Amino acid sequence: MLLQKTLLSFFFFSLLLLVQSKHNHEVEEEEEVVTRSMFPDDFIFGVATSAYQIEGAYLEDGKSLNNWDVFTHHPGGRFGEINPSGLMFYNNIIDNLLLKGIEPFVTIHHFDLPQELEDRYGGWLSPHMQEEYVYFAKLCFEKFGDRVKNWMTINEPNVFTQFAYMRGTFPPRRCSLPFGNCSAGNSDVEPLIAAHNMLIAHAKAVKLYRNHFQPKQGGIVGLTANAFHYEPYTNDEFSYQAVERSYAFNVDWIFDPLIYGNYPALMRKYLGKDLPKFSKEEVELLKGSIDFIGINHYSTFYALDCFNSNDCTSTENRAIGGYTGRAIARNGIPIGDEMGVFGFRIVPYGMEKLLNRLSLRYPNTSIYITENGYCPPNYQEGTELLQDFTRIKFHQTYLASMSKAMRKGAKVKGYFVWSFMDNFEWIQGYNITFGLYYVDRNTMKRTPRLSAKWFKDFIANGEKSSTISTF
Ligand code: FCB
Repeated sequence: MLLQKTLLSFFFFSLLLLVQSKHNHEVEEEEEVVTRSMFPDDFIFGVATSAYQIEGAYLEDGKSLNNWDVFTHHPGGRFGEINPSGLMFYNNIIDNLLLKGIEPFVTIHHFDLPQELEDRYGGWLSPHMQEEYVYFAKLCFEKFGDRVKNWMTINEPNVFTQFAYMRGTFPPRRCSLPFGNCSAGNSDVEPLIAAHNMLIAHAKAVKLYRNHFQPKQGGIVGLTANAFHYEPYTNDEFSYQAVERSYAFNVDWIFDPLIYGNYPALMRKYLGKDLPKFSKEEVELLKGSIDFIGINHYSTFYALDCFNSNDCTSTENRAIGGYTGRAIARNGIPIGDEMGVFGFRIVPYGMEKLLNRLSLRYPNTSIYITENGYCPPNYQEGTELLQDFTRIKFHQTYLASMSKAMRKGAKVKGYFVWSFMDNFEWIQGYNITFGLYYVDRNTMKRTPRLSAKWFKDFIANGEKSSTISTF
């Protein structure tokens, strides 16, 4: 195996930290109230982070360069064997979590991968990455699987491939006009190829886990995709079709193969030869290859029909293939209040509608909300934002919306706040603050915001209701 020398700490990793508490109360029906007791006893609450976004120490302890180091710093190269310090680092985290009664949910690959693999193969564009990924996943199952029972193979292949290979805003910065101005790339096909390799890599790792680790270790394995909800822009058939296409090209693109073994019919229809094909063996490998769906949900958009209307004025807002676009306002009225990430709006009802749709399309699969979170629109230095009432209201309203979907039958098993603490928000750097904990960027001191206290009380307190007003 070529990558006998993968460094542990340089591939991956995001941790969803899970805190659980037991309660025996009836489900509340009032819509303006959200309580712990509205959710089943074994429902899981937690917070989420990812390695590259919080760890720092980019060339310490034997870690070598990854794609984000090169993208955000200057080119270089330094490769090595499996890094014992990396293993020790994650062993310590896992052991300490368990010691505190916190159950880890681990994502094996969250956007960062060894620069060596970018240089050698062109990253996820190459099918070689499938074997490299499986090698790395195997290492994680072997080293941590005795204690880690909840695995996500890959974080957001749908977002990563669009940014890295369609818009060129993530490493390896590949794209073509009109979607972006990069030195190389093809925005029409490369995101599809990269996602194809990620899906097959996932399925191969799951097969390995199920055959060699699951029987002994008894864990579960899923994959996480980003999923917005889409509302029709106008009240006509074309708009409803645009909603369907938006879902197909953004969400079903990832989960249809993992559950049914093939890409959604709408993608096959519109993309034709541009869409890679799965072989018969791959179809069998992919079908049913997740124990649960992981959803990162942040916002809702109006879906634009780029065929029959002139609404799609900007390529910036077009989905893969360019057949649909998205808007944040209709007739000058925004779909919801603003957040710090450009285009994100607060639309709590989107959570329920998204979950209802997922439950119809994938009726037998459990769902975890692996990320849901709020960042204020205007970044302010210092402690002014410690009293983060809007973030609390955000979570209360989204939780209430999630609970409505659950009452209608959505099999949601857990909810993780993004994020445990302020971190490095990829190309938006340090000016976006998603944390329940405020991090002073100079001293690294962490201070709980009001939302951290609220979430702690919410999880611990089954009866006390926290009344919410709507946005
Ligand atoms: C998600 C990413 C996560 C973080 C949040 C805000 O798309 O998975 O790393 O950047 O968005």
